[in-house]
Amino acid sequence: MEEARVAMRDDMLDRLIEKLNLTQKVRLLTGFTTWRTAGEETIGLRPMVFSDGPAGVRGEAWDERRTSALLPSASALGASWDEQLLRDLGGLLASEAIRRDVDVVLAPNLNMHRTPLGGRHFECYSEDPELTARTGAALIRGIQEQGIAATAKHFVANDSETDRLHADVRMDDRTLREVYLAPFEAAVHAGVWLVMAGYNSVAGTTMTAHPLLSEPLKGEWGFDGVAVSDWAAVRTTEGPARAALDLAMPGPRSPWAQHLVQAVDDGLVPESAIDDKVRRLLRLADRVGALQGPRRRPVLRTNPTRQLLRRAVAAGTVLVRNEGVLPLDLGALPTVAVIGEHAASPRVQGGGSAGVFPFAVVTPLDGIRAHLRGRGRVVYAPGPSLTVPPPPLDTDRCTDPRSKEPGVLLRCLDAEGRELSAERRLSGRQLEPDLPPGAHTVEISTLLRPRTTGMWTFGIGGFGRMTLGVDGNPVLDDTYPCETDDPAIVHVAPPLHTARTHLVKDRTVHLVARRELVPGTGRATVVVAAPPERDPAGALAEAVETARDADAVIVVVGSAEHSETEGYDRTDLSLGHQQDDLVRAVAAANPRTVAVVNSGGPVELPWRDDVGALLLTWFPGQEAGAGLADVLFGRSEPGGRLPTTWAASLADAPVTHTGPVDGRLDYTEGLHIGYRAWLREERRPAYWFGHGLGYTTWEYVRVDAPAHTEAGAPFTLRVTLRNTGKRPGREVVQVYMARPGSSVERPARWLAGYASVRADPEHAVTAEVTVAPRALRHWSCEHGAWRTEPGEFRLMVGRSAGAMEWQAPLHVSAVEKHGAA
Ligand code: BGC
Repeated sequence: MEEARVAMRDDMLDRLIEKLNLTQKVRLLTGFTTWRTAGEETIGLRPMVFSDGPAGVRGEAWDERRTSALLPSASALGASWDEQLLRDLGGLLASEAIRRDVDVVLAPNLNMHRTPLGGRHFECYSEDPELTARTGAALIRGIQEQGIAATAKHFVANDSETDRLHADVRMDDRTLREVYLAPFEAAVHAGVWLVMAGYNSVAGTTMTAHPLLSEPLKGEWGFDGVAVSDWAAVRTTEGPARAALDLAMPGPRSPWAQHLVQAVDDGLVPESAIDDKVRRLLRLADRVGALQGPRRRPVLRTNPTRQLLRRAVAAGTVLVRNEGVLPLDLGALPTVAVIGEHAASPRVQGGGSAGVFPFAVVTPLDGIRAHLRGRGRVVYAPGPSLTVPPPPLDTDRCTDPRSKEPGVLLRCLDAEGRELSAERRLSGRQLEPDLPPGAHTVEISTLLRPRTTGMWTFGIGGFGRMTLGVDGNPVLDDTYPCETDDPAIVHVAPPLHTARTHLVKDRTVHLVARRELVPGTGRATVVVAAPPERDPAGALAEAVETARDADAVIVVVGSAEHSETEGYDRTDLSLGHQQDDLVRAVAAANPRTVAVVNSGGPVELPWRDDVGALLLTWFPGQEAGAGLADVLFGRSEPGGRLPTTWAASLADAPVTHTGPVDGRLDYTEGLHIGYRAWLREERRPAYWFGHGLGYTTWEYVRVDAPAHTEAGAPFTLRVTLRNTGKRPGREVVQVYMARPGSSVERPARWLAGYASVRADPEHAVTAEVTVAPRALRHWSCEHGAWRTEPGEFRLMVGRSAGAMEWQAPLHVSAVEKHGAA
């Protein structure tokens, strides 16, 4: 039935293609703008609008006046091990897309946590292919069931950022299939409508021209959607056109827009290849309703957005240590001390193309105050100032000099300095200012009223000649060359150049920043300012005093704006020593100290055994503080289990190389990333993959598992457990496998399946974990096919990759058809 429907549609699509000449067809294969495809009236095709993803749907422009719902980072969602939650959040992304007239969401990111240093770690789910695959597939289903397209990205092995446009990743085929391609394969099985080819190369070929787009993606896996390039990743004409890339984004300029018609005329690219690309694009258009005239308005879920986001915060928060401190007892809390800059200015999202302008942010301090209102006193001490880049000018302390309204004045000037356009904006970070014809200079000016006297830091980001004046005195005036092509750096996070100047409290100053535009270096213009730093010793002493007298202390620490962002890998995992000193000092002053870590990926926590409780909250999105307060005061349990292993120190981490050598990035560790590497090297991390305590305790009572199975057949374990604590709870039952004495190289153990269950205190519950045949298979490079090695495997049930509760042999008999998937 379904097959017939697809064939019918293909017939119709082919009839549309017949109406187009070559020029019209090729025109469809490059973006019409940065975020739109071209429409074609003759066949009733309207443009389709694309938007990042994955933390929210920004819409067609970087414009701080258009706000979006901001989800927790992918690392937080990976920590939830909760496919229904991901499906609900997919529905939320789809509804945001519909609100924004977006057809295609550029999410999920299915790259792997190969090393803790990966700059986009926060944007990916996990170090484990099974968890990444299931989490990503659930989000895809949630988005697409509302008629909005999802995009599995970045195909494939774009797992770190250093030299990402050119890095040539090398690994054996088995590692490629079992670790890095597996989540994309699951995305295709979930029916994903687009796959994005990354910037990087694999085995010497850039991904936009890679044979992997044909096999296995379109052939073996049967992907019938659109293979779209990452932004500006198409750098030549024939390679990507002959390979199976379908759509070059963005536009209107691309090598295809310039040369593809000629390449077909010259016989270098067959027209049938063009037709196939157009057919796929039209199929996508059909799916999102772009061939059916006005936009389709699917029925939306009713889950109120903020509640869902708040639930997601708690679901992804991982409690890794608890010495009887959490949940905090509201009745016994006359005074709660909240400590740390991140409590008042949390980092709610990572940096780069995924960024959105959230429509509200609940800080931890706000969330805690709201919970305790009328019931207890909250005292706050920020502790020492963090060494972070100064934030963009905002509406809080800045006034537009013309309208005298909060914000800044954004102007475009011609070469003679005449005003071409002017508008009030709400931020000093202008990534896509509209440029009227003749624009030569972008200017951002404001009246800033300092709240503190001392040395202020000012800065400007962008490329080319830039100046910054304070009350007419130049503090910066230089020419800053653009030494990269990376769009995330050029268009989203250009480097900042800073200078310091003395200001006096309440004495307003006039800031004027100008950037002269140079073709090819983008138009992003960023103006930042930060008040003088607090005296470190005094700030630390104040925090300690605040903590000492409180009934409980919540100290929030985290990573800095520049340390976890697209375009750069991290160079260390340190929080910054003042934050470590802060937690140590506060915990020494008060044993009822809860440390809350606000980072997208692993960081070093050298004081982790000194605190009463330790919560990892990732980048929690806009409801950060609301969800955190729910967890702290026991309204929700911290539902997360680590999706990635946390090292005690970077020096212990087994896989840390992200920098290509002579252009090559060798994945020498092969199959052994994450917990697999820790197990192989017999090293002990701070916290294992899968670890997370929740608020109750569990007894694993019984496991019913087959002792024997046939290759190619799924099987089910029934794991009975009892809630032995005092609260209802949710447990994630994790099934691992191993193959002692295997004839092929194997991970020490690997995650084969998982399921979650809930139970009330003293109640037993049975989790059914189904293990798919793939968990027993390995990719045979010799045969170019999946194989199951018969004989004795070990089946394990664990609470993390490092803590097994039960194990038994599993005999696997040989019968299996060759070529099994
Ligand atoms: C990123 C993609 C993103 C695209 C569009 C690229 O630099 O790698 O993840 O979807 O930009 O913003």
